[in-house]
Amino acid sequence: MTQLTSSGAADTEIAHVNVQNGRAFSLNAFGMNYAFHVDANGELVHDHFGTPAEVQPTEVGPEHISGWATRLTDEKRELPDVGRGDFRLPAIHIRTGAGHTVTEFKYTGYEVVRGKPELEGLPATFGGERDVASVIITLEDEESGLVATLRYSVFPAHNAVTRSYTITNKGGQDVEIKRAASFTLNLDAGEWDMVYLTGDWAREANQVRRRVETGTQGFHSLCGYSSHFFNPFVALVSSDTTETSGPAYGLSFVYSGSFAVEVEKFVSDRVRANIGLHPLHLDWKLAPGESFTAPESVAVFSNHGLGGMSRSFHRLYRDHLSRSEWTYRPRPVLLNSWEGMYFDFDAEKLYTKAKDCADIGIKLYVMDDGWFGVKHPRTGDHAGLGDWVPNPDRFPNGLDDLVSRATSLSVHGSDQNLKFGIWVEPEMVNPQSELYEAHPDWVLHAGRHKRTEQRNQLVLDLSRRDVQDYLIDAIGSVLASANISFVKWDNNRAMHELPSPSTAHAYMLGLYRVVDSLTRRFPHILWDGCASGGGRFDPGLLHYWPQSWTSDNTDGLDRLHIQFGTSLVYPPSSMGAHVSAVPNHQVQRVTPLEFRAHVAMMGGSFGFELDLQALDDGERARVRDIIALSEKVSPYVLGGDLYRLAAPESNYPAALFMMPGGGRGVLLAFCMQARIHRYAPPLFFAGLDRMAAYEIDCKTYTGTDLMHSGLKLHWDARDYQSKVLFVKRLPYDN
Ligand code: GLA
Repeated sequence: MTQLTSSGAADTEIAHVNVQNGRAFSLNAFGMNYAFHVDANGELVHDHFGTPAEVQPTEVGPEHISGWATRLTDEKRELPDVGRGDFRLPAIHIRTGAGHTVTEFKYTGYEVVRGKPELEGLPATFGGERDVASVIITLEDEESGLVATLRYSVFPAHNAVTRSYTITNKGGQDVEIKRAASFTLNLDAGEWDMVYLTGDWAREANQVRRRVETGTQGFHSLCGYSSHFFNPFVALVSSDTTETSGPAYGLSFVYSGSFAVEVEKFVSDRVRANIGLHPLHLDWKLAPGESFTAPESVAVFSNHGLGGMSRSFHRLYRDHLSRSEWTYRPRPVLLNSWEGMYFDFDAEKLYTKAKDCADIGIKLYVMDDGWFGVKHPRTGDHAGLGDWVPNPDRFPNGLDDLVSRATSLSVHGSDQNLKFGIWVEPEMVNPQSELYEAHPDWVLHAGRHKRTEQRNQLVLDLSRRDVQDYLIDAIGSVLASANISFVKWDNNRAMHELPSPSTAHAYMLGLYRVVDSLTRRFPHILWDGCASGGGRFDPGLLHYWPQSWTSDNTDGLDRLHIQFGTSLVYPPSSMGAHVSAVPNHQVQRVTPLEFRAHVAMMGGSFGFELDLQALDDGERARVRDIIALSEKVSPYVLGGDLYRLAAPESNYPAALFMMPGGGRGVLLAFCMQARIHRYAPPLFFAGLDRMAAYEIDCKTYTGTDLMHSGLKLHWDARDYQSKVLFVKRLPYDN
């Protein structure tokens, strides 16, 4: 990272950042630019975000201001605050030492930086000097002595701008930050829709699209975690934007805790969208000399619809958010013990299952919940959480003995030995545990209010340094005690009884410290996030962990909806997806093995979650074929561009993954339910070269044909069919 220019009225130009007179700023990507300027009053005013344009800075809103609205209400403000006549919802709201909440942040200077400054203690995107350029703007509120340092960065290849900021109290009195949204999107008057993801346990990532109406509409998490209910993401799209065309703005908050998204269409028809920390979980005290940082938010722009927006997020998050060495590495095909055994196991049973895995060609065996607890064994979900010591009855010779034996097994059809993984849920404690007996004060609690249990557990207060240190040590010791290659880090309840609203954010900072420390100490481990399925599928934790369990619902049909929804923001490489038994344990549905497997192959971390011994010989042979196919498909899912050719709502969903360069790809296509004597719509390809010829399933097509007349797949009169077809571009002279 090179810091280049300090304040001044000069013009500055580095690759992708242009500054005129020290007062007008443009962050330039290949397919968009983001521009703002300093107005005559020292306010930061937004000018443009979209297809590259040279936009003249504008000073005022509508020509004839009348009534109660002031200039500030109508201005497209980069950091809207309150108290001086802006009546829209603000990004920041700070109670100053004088007791009021009026602030007036005025521009004092800027710096231009090649690369991107780190965000200490928080997850964030990163990149080298060729990948990203930044502008740092300083504003000051003279009255209170508060200084705001805004960091804008542009990733030119991804049409993405990121922003975070720090408020420093340079005054003499305590202040209280009541609201600190990280990013404010300003849109002109128009017909806008908002798109977002909602759900619950076992039905994550349902897409909602609704019209932005005059007034405020939004959603949030107050769970303490990002949650199943809403994801920290929103897209604002033109009402005629589709999957493949039209403008799409995506906002994604790089955070794993409570958050709020507010989209406000004011009476003037201008739209302001704020994304950031939830104000009800903030109230952050800032003493003189202290600083507070609002986490990073990412904004991408695409003129190629929601699909283009998703691909920008996917590439950006793979290349510049996920810091794991596993991001692009083929993930070992795994078997997770949960649905096959639940809590019913011991070392010998585990070893037998591990042998089965190795025999059939599975590369990684993951022991899920139930292996720990000495005084309070974890034989069910009632006890043991917090005591990260292997249970001596289940492991009479210790965990290391089992892991050593399992990892000495050679895997059928490969030159590798079996790998071994474990499940942990470090942030939680059962009252029935030695940890809680020793430290009842370590859990989140509010005075003498009842400590509400969910799944018989309480939440450890990770805002406490001693709790963080305990976890770093306890989990670190388990990982150092045996040859463990994979960790599934679970989190199965929301936060209640916070001792103060700001504990929610302090907890997140503590969690990031713990996760940062453990992932740095064990960089070769494949870390896998989970929160009762996809309850914490967010960019915050994907900074440290390359993947997350997408849902506890492993039904093939439901998973199509869940995985397509999740892919709106998150790269398929980050999704864990497993083949489970039928009837499915969550919804009792029976679907063919290959259908379940093909759905699961669209996740970067493919595996099984069933009892292999319950399969007959024919099914075992098919499992071997499925493993081989999944390993062929995996590079496309890990590194390819995803084109959602048809959504699950169509009954014939299809996903095309094209490798960079466009020479090879794979199509996964599905027929969810039989439709007798009706045709399936053709699949219109995207991302191909019109002039080139492509081979699919031994037939040759031109790019034009595939994109404009479409591929017509034949489906039988049966439910739950699927096809995996490889796509190859033929040499031009063919
Ligand atoms: C959660 C997870 C499951 C499993 C269980 C174990 O529900 O989402 O995958 O690990 O916990 O208790």
